[in-house]
Amino acid sequence: MKQQLNYSWYFIEGYNETYLKKIPTLAEEIDIPHSVKMLPYNHFTELDYQGVFTYFKKFDCENFNEDFISILRFNGFMVNAKIYLNDVYLGEFVSGYIPVEIDVSKVIKKRGNYLIVVLSTIENKDVPPFGNVVDYMTFGGIYRGVELIQHVDKKYIVKTLVNANKDGEVNIKNLLSDSEIPYDLSYEIYLNENLIYKTNKDKFVIENAQLWTLKSPVLYTLKAILKTSKGVDEYVTKFGFRTAEFKKDGFYLNGKKEKLIGLNRHQSYPYIGYAATKSLQEDDANILKEAAGINVVRTSHYPQDEAFLSRCDEIGLLVLDEIPGWQYLSKDEKWRNQHYKNVYEMVKEDYNHPSVIAHGVRVDESQDDHELYQKSNEIAHELDPYRQTLGVRNFKDSECLEDIYAYNDFSCENITHGLDDPKTIKKGEKPYLVSECNGHMFPTKSFDNETRKIDHALHHAKTINDAFKYDDISAIIGWCAFDYNTHKDFGSGDRICYHGVFDIFRNRKYASYVYQSQSDDKPVMKVLCSFNQGDFDASIYRRIFVATNLDYIELYKGGEFVKKYAVKHNEFENMKHPLIEIDDLVGETFSDLRFSEKDRKTMSKLLTKVAFFGLNNISLIDKAIVGKMMLKYHLKYPDLVEIFNTYVVNWGGEAKTYEFKGYKDGKVIKTETFGPAFKNILDIQMSKSELVNADTYDMLRVSLRHIDENNHVFNYSFLPIKLETKGPIEIMGPKEFSLIGGQISFYVRSLNKKGEGIISISSPILNTKLTIKVS
Ligand code: GAL
Repeated sequence: MKQQLNYSWYFIEGYNETYLKKIPTLAEEIDIPHSVKMLPYNHFTELDYQGVFTYFKKFDCENFNEDFISILRFNGFMVNAKIYLNDVYLGEFVSGYIPVEIDVSKVIKKRGNYLIVVLSTIENKDVPPFGNVVDYMTFGGIYRGVELIQHVDKKYIVKTLVNANKDGEVNIKNLLSDSEIPYDLSYEIYLNENLIYKTNKDKFVIENAQLWTLKSPVLYTLKAILKTSKGVDEYVTKFGFRTAEFKKDGFYLNGKKEKLIGLNRHQSYPYIGYAATKSLQEDDANILKEAAGINVVRTSHYPQDEAFLSRCDEIGLLVLDEIPGWQYLSKDEKWRNQHYKNVYEMVKEDYNHPSVIAHGVRVDESQDDHELYQKSNEIAHELDPYRQTLGVRNFKDSECLEDIYAYNDFSCENITHGLDDPKTIKKGEKPYLVSECNGHMFPTKSFDNETRKIDHALHHAKTINDAFKYDDISAIIGWCAFDYNTHKDFGSGDRICYHGVFDIFRNRKYASYVYQSQSDDKPVMKVLCSFNQGDFDASIYRRIFVATNLDYIELYKGGEFVKKYAVKHNEFENMKHPLIEIDDLVGETFSDLRFSEKDRKTMSKLLTKVAFFGLNNISLIDKAIVGKMMLKYHLKYPDLVEIFNTYVVNWGGEAKTYEFKGYKDGKVIKTETFGPAFKNILDIQMSKSELVNADTYDMLRVSLRHIDENNHVFNYSFLPIKLETKGPIEIMGPKEFSLIGGQISFYVRSLNKKGEGIISISSPILNTKLTIKVS
């Protein structure tokens, strides 16, 4: 039996003994998930959310029975809390990123329970990741759900752990409460709500089990039924049949080798910090699977929300989970015991998720510590013998006690070098993966100039290329998915690490398309250039690439065919779907009949080279060819300028569009058009259209983009936006703001009422209303 305790709490900053008797009149009514402070987008410090805060909750126990065992479960608060129920001090508890369960059987009443949580959000040196600096913020609050779990008898199921493999074998292990009472355990297996199997054995085989794969992630349900003389206790969990294994030569899912391409994810959001509902967690998983097209995500650097993992299970996105920590290790007993507890809790909590393929038991980028990591590995292996452990380090000769050697390889040098050869790493016979790359080596804002954004994408492409070049790199996990708020020692001075391939609002940068183009899930074609020539230094484009999984591309300029481009031998040739280079912008459009047919071809190539690199930077041979052309056709420098202006720049001429057509199996699948913008469009996309109050309130993300008629974002638009709401909804964050680099998102939550919410959006280019049903 479960009772959710997430609505109608009271909250006040600070703590005073009188609060134990009475909720202070100044306390505000809030709902869980909750952040102790609504924060700005940037330029705030950790001190803004650190302090002591008091939460109050009055509730009746829906299924009260004096004999029941009642467990109060906090799924996550940051960081430690003194908890009182009905005037009884239950103790001080540490959560951070793991749940806290408290047996309140002796204290709970049928009516008028009074729960008080005195929360300290101050970085606690006894708890990882704290003790030194950390490159992420640890936002305070009761930021995950709170529930009351009840059992009819002293003997009950704490958790049923289930592993199922590709051969249909199911292995069950139950963590039972400590009690001598006789009991009887049996299991039921369901597929799509149909009972397909019943047994009282812990090991059995399901014939013809449908596998959990990335394309078709079939989920089964296991119901464990424990009977005692007092009644029935049940534990219900989803699971999937799959075998995941890292071997020396790569990663295998259900026996099939799969190159893993992924991103690291922080669980933080603008304004609300960690206090995100189920639907926002799901939104992130959806973005990673669909918009980034990746097949693996690393939960850097802590265990993440159950809802995020469940969504990964549902959509077929693999997960490398990870204990809390960042570089720092303490010799202190308390800190180390908390670390061990974190390992145990993470393995226990995440056990049933088929998406989770390895447990990260080493503090990210920490030094070697034989004792600490031997024990961490033991804890993980003992509880979960089926999953490999993983340890992330940032130096090459590290001792590896885990099953998988993971390395943060920040050696990328633009497009000349992506990753180090795994042979240069002392990893013995261990499977190897790159757990981070890029990130701080090339921070890029959505409002950076074109050259930087393109280079950012090319850095990621080059590392992906090298992951394919070295066959035994089983996975490459880029740093990182989304920009994030951070401490003063990191970031760009405004306390944001602009390391994401999406911005902090989950809107795209070019680099996100590079990842997406490696997936075959849907057709992708994105030209990595805006064709806003004046935004490039000296107006020269350098090289132009297209991130695509299509066969070839054709370019039309003002309707005239220019050239067909396909994959060729270059810096990206090892990628699963190499970037396609646009190496000629003039091609067959060069129609100056003064030149012979052969020389027209030569001229079109020369013109492109000048457009890409500038006249001064073309090679000596090309300069000599220019000279030859000038002599042969009696051309003076102004003639050359005129030719260049006609075929490349087209100053003052009739606006010409560049139209790229992407082909698959001989058919045009995607097009992208570039031309001077004449229209201002405010594009509005919602992560979902309805809000549903369930275990907690609900949230959605509304993404705003200022675009032209060809769906290109105006990256230097800082358009002002004003929001107003009516009905049972609230904006989480400012109601007046400007776009950041032509795009932003705002977040809407449901209030605990049914009805119709209306958001009025005002901007200089569009005034409109969104209607959101709240149920
Ligand atoms: C790594 C670290 C990450 C992040 C990243 C930035 O060293 O593991 O947490 O700080 O650098 O690129």
